[in-house]
Amino acid sequence: MTEVGPGTPMGELLRRYWHPVAPAMELRERRVKPVKLLGEDLLLFRKQDGGHGLISRHCPHRRADLALGWVDGDALRCAYHGWAFDASGRCVSQPFEEAGPSGGFRDKVRTASYPTATLGGLVWAYLGPDPAPLLPDFEPFSWSHGFVEVIMTELPCNWFQCHENGVDPVHFEWLHSNGNVVRGNPDARDYVATHLDIEFLEFAYGFVNGRVVDTVNAPKGEYARTSNVADGGILCLWPYTLVSGSTIEFRVPVDERRTLNITWQYSVLPDDAPTGEQGSDTVPYWYGPYTDPATGDVIMSHTLNQDFATWAGQGAVTDRTREQLGRSDAGITMLRRRYFEAMEQVARGEDPPGTVRDPEANVRIQLPIHSKSYYTEGMPRAVFEEKLAARKRSGLFGIGGFHSVQAGRPEHLQAKYEEIAGIAE
Ligand code: FES
Ligand SMILES: [Fe+2]
Repeated sequence: MTEVGPGTPMGELLRRYWHPVAPAMELRERRVKPVKLLGEDLLLFRKQDGGHGLISRHCPHRRADLALGWVDGDALRCAYHGWAFDASGRCVSQPFEEAGPSGGFRDKVRTASYPTATLGGLVWAYLGPDPAPLLPDFEPFSWSHGFVEVIMTELPCNWFQCHENGVDPVHFEWLHSNGNVVRGNPDARDYVATHLDIEFLEFAYGFVNGRVVDTVNAPKGEYARTSNVADGGILCLWPYTLVSGSTIEFRVPVDERRTLNITWQYSVLPDDAPTGEQGSDTVPYWYGPYTDPATGDVIMSHTLNQDFATWAGQGAVTDRTREQLGRSDAGITMLRRRYFEAMEQVARGEDPPGTVRDPEANVRIQLPIHSKSYYTEGMPRAVFEEKLAARKRSGLFGIGGFHSVQAGRPEHLQAKYEEIAGIAE
């Protein structure tokens, strides 16, 4: 279940999906970036024409690191002896060999290459067999009443324990809500409403989370609401994605013991703020820290950091033989069972769940997100200002994606967001 390399059952399942690998804007700035995905060392580059190439990281001449090279037209040139490779992996230049009597042997040299695509401010890659499925065009990538940014954080643990969190609604109550209460005041025990029941609904692209919360006997809190799966909810999508509306969180497997968490954050704007999609190349990005650079401690101040700390704290590859599962884990067992079935589907040569192949259906794919109009239409200005004041009072800026769900948002982005939202002082 945790292995991701080629030829492993889960590695083969994962190779049937597209994977986000880097912010498009970062490639515009640096043009060449080493990436590791599903255990494979790769090199991503931005061509002169604005497209991307994704090839093996090591040069097929004498294995030099192509991350030291540079883009030359639409090819990537190795820094060691100048051989160049295009996005399809063909060798297109061998300067010293070509100066000799034989004219070189570039037609005999190839390196591995993979297709890429751009969507939602991200560059995506497909590492599986042909024909590649379509990159799903989920509707949030076209929403236009929010401020979008991409946050990258590498975590020291296996991707599947991160993904299991997407069908674990009880943790909202403890890790986030009650934890915030106690971390703010160690003596406080004014807990939020308790979960009474949880439920899940499978749909074409994943699972909807539902919950029954005891709103009668407890004060209102951030997650103190009952949500029936029929009304939508927080979504857990194939192969490793959580969708809340204010975020899409990708738990991209780097290798068996590391996960690249990519957060696509959508901060809802007041309904009178200027709207419009941010072009993929201009979605800002930043690298969010996992530990506090000053103390070395794992950060616990913001919602997603709390999740990161918990997943990695389970161990690099958690020992599932030592778990004691209960009622709260109905989603976990369901998810594991479905992934075993999906691995078998792929072994039989079938497409796994969530595969999109019909171009006509792949236009702003609608998702059953809870309270969707909040994201698609923006928030009434009065409500926005009221929430802002409440968050400033509580000091919990990270909650709900209103500011940032992760610690470390650069000041210039905070300022840009406040300017667009019309709340700059
Ligand atoms: S190792 Fe790359 S050109 Fe020689
Ligand atoms: Fe969480």
